[in-house]
Amino acid sequence: MTYNEIRKVFLDYFKQHGHKIVPSASLIPEDPNLLFTIAGVVLWKPELRGERPAPAPRVANVQKCIRAGGKHNDLEDVGFDNRHHTFFEMLGNWSFGDYFKEEAITMSWEVLTKVLGLDPNRLVITTHHSDDEATEIWKKLTGKDAIRLGDKDNWWAIGDTGPCGPCTEIHYDMQPDMIGGLPGSPEEDCGRFVELWNNVFMTYDRDANGNLTPLPKRNIDTGAGLERWAAVLQNKLDNYDTDLFVNLKRAVSDLTGVKETETNKPSFKIITDHLRSVGFAIADGVIPSNADRGYVIRRILRRAMRHGQILGHKGGLLSELYPALVTEMGDTYPELKNNQQHVVEIIRNEENSFTDMLQNGMKLLESELPNVNNGILPGDVAFKLFDTYGFPLDLTQMILRDKNIKVDVNAFEKCMNEQKERSRADTRGTKLLWESQTDLPATIDIEKYETKTDKPATVLSILRGEEFVKSANENDEVEIVLDHTPFYGTQGGQVGDMGVFKIDDNVVMNVTETNRVGGLVVHKGVLTSPINVGDEVMPEINQQNRQQIARAHTATHLLQAALRKVLNEDVEQRGSKVSPDSVRFDFSFGRAMTTEEKQAVEDLVNEWIKSDLNVTHEEMDIDSAKKRGAMALFGEKYGDRVRVITAGDVSCELCGGTHIYHTGEIIKARINKEKSISSGIRRITMSVGALAE
Ligand code: ALA
Repeated sequence: MTYNEIRKVFLDYFKQHGHKIVPSASLIPEDPNLLFTIAGVVLWKPELRGERPAPAPRVANVQKCIRAGGKHNDLEDVGFDNRHHTFFEMLGNWSFGDYFKEEAITMSWEVLTKVLGLDPNRLVITTHHSDDEATEIWKKLTGKDAIRLGDKDNWWAIGDTGPCGPCTEIHYDMQPDMIGGLPGSPEEDCGRFVELWNNVFMTYDRDANGNLTPLPKRNIDTGAGLERWAAVLQNKLDNYDTDLFVNLKRAVSDLTGVKETETNKPSFKIITDHLRSVGFAIADGVIPSNADRGYVIRRILRRAMRHGQILGHKGGLLSELYPALVTEMGDTYPELKNNQQHVVEIIRNEENSFTDMLQNGMKLLESELPNVNNGILPGDVAFKLFDTYGFPLDLTQMILRDKNIKVDVNAFEKCMNEQKERSRADTRGTKLLWESQTDLPATIDIEKYETKTDKPATVLSILRGEEFVKSANENDEVEIVLDHTPFYGTQGGQVGDMGVFKIDDNVVMNVTETNRVGGLVVHKGVLTSPINVGDEVMPEINQQNRQQIARAHTATHLLQAALRKVLNEDVEQRGSKVSPDSVRFDFSFGRAMTTEEKQAVEDLVNEWIKSDLNVTHEEMDIDSAKKRGAMALFGEKYGDRVRVITAGDVSCELCGGTHIYHTGEIIKARINKEKSISSGIRRITMSVGALAE
């Protein structure tokens, strides 16, 4: 049975048994405690708690899931066994206060043995040691004695708090001629038995202290891994040998020109698995970044690229393979198709920025290997790989895994902390150094509003460490000032740009941070080629990152306008931080906002986004701006010429930041938190764009 057939058979069965079939929800869960949707039941947390009515008493679906990062994390195992995935599809059925143990167990037994025709003798049951009821139901139904196990195996919870309960699992004997390996035994991971289906009896709500309170109703939550079903039904020992993966692996082979062998099999598994998680996550709105789920996706993408490199592949990998994923899964998940261009572009950007770093980092790592003692790579080397070449720790660990070398993680973490300290001191330190360069002309940075330049810029000054140098080399960490630049240096709460400098279309520097010191725009980053004072470079900002910052900045103006409307006209901005797709906004207000007020502010901002108001950017003298009624910042000094940013008739502010041109570009805004930061000052954090969606 193919994947398409299995999904259909499963859903048809539950439809016939009175279930409402619902589509897969997004991989980005509503639940702020989770990075990703890790199981179908994640959608139903409020329903289980009786906080929101369920769409029907019986529901079923096929849910896309990612388990990478956080409590449920399978990332490290992918590639090295037959059955782990970061992305997988979960078949699930639920009862919200409707049927309970007996009917749930009977239905799953019927599906496996009657509908799919699995041999009952090859199925093994486990139950929670406390659960006599489920154990007896199994005995009566099948004559089998369940193996009774503890919380580790037979208690399931979405997270540390929330709905949970005992569960019963059905395992399949993949290789009856092997010895041992029963669930709960020391050899349970040998691969003989795989879990096919988990039936959770969702009966409790756990609080932060670990106390269990009964849920208002007794519910059923089940989950079954489609990939494992496919393996069993297609008589394969390895999930990655099932039809869907065979097709994806063929695409990898076609792209790289390499055939799959026993030796390179892990790379094929890792690339196909990571293609699915990266592709699906980005199609659902995740953007690779340095934090939270964006960082998980960045890490996964970088691991995939490393395996592309192992196969000898150069150039785009997942961006090139994405069409194959669309062919394979785009009919079931139309979001893959609808967002194809966007997803490929994001992946390609990310791949481009990591390609050179991967190669240079590998060179460094290889040169360090002869110095490895006792199979431990020193933490400072792993740190250098992280800091200079963007190697997430787990990428370094994965690379070293087959050499049987471990990373000194404690020493790595120590370096991380020291660097944080240093960078705090550094910003102060290099700032003083730049301030001492009094004969450097102020950077012409008017092009930041255009976001690009077509004129090469001249390198005026290079700072390496604490020394101004005439030339610097590949891999040097430097700060550079140009005569003109489209890069925005951190200012007025808006974070600076990232991007690259190029010479003759080749990247010579990866700019990771841009700051302002007085009139200078200081680009900080790592050189990928030697560079000299007097060289001409093309500065190119990362447009996508800028767009995310610009829409967050315009959203900040809308937020301020909405707060003044909903709360009162005295609300004043007291600080802000505008980052890609996220906003932190501090304002004067004497008390906590109510839930209704927060909702009203969020709704108003979203209404203005929906109306797609024009955003104008005008330069004028300060008096004209005041006449216009432009709002100025408390305590801020302005020059004679100012920029005025106007959004429809809802907001008009003096602002030197960069903005979008239509509020619709913000797509969506979502208030995450509102809290007090000091007396009379509140702080709101808000996500916009893909992050909010
Ligand atoms: N939510 C349960 C699981 O993921 C069914 O195993």
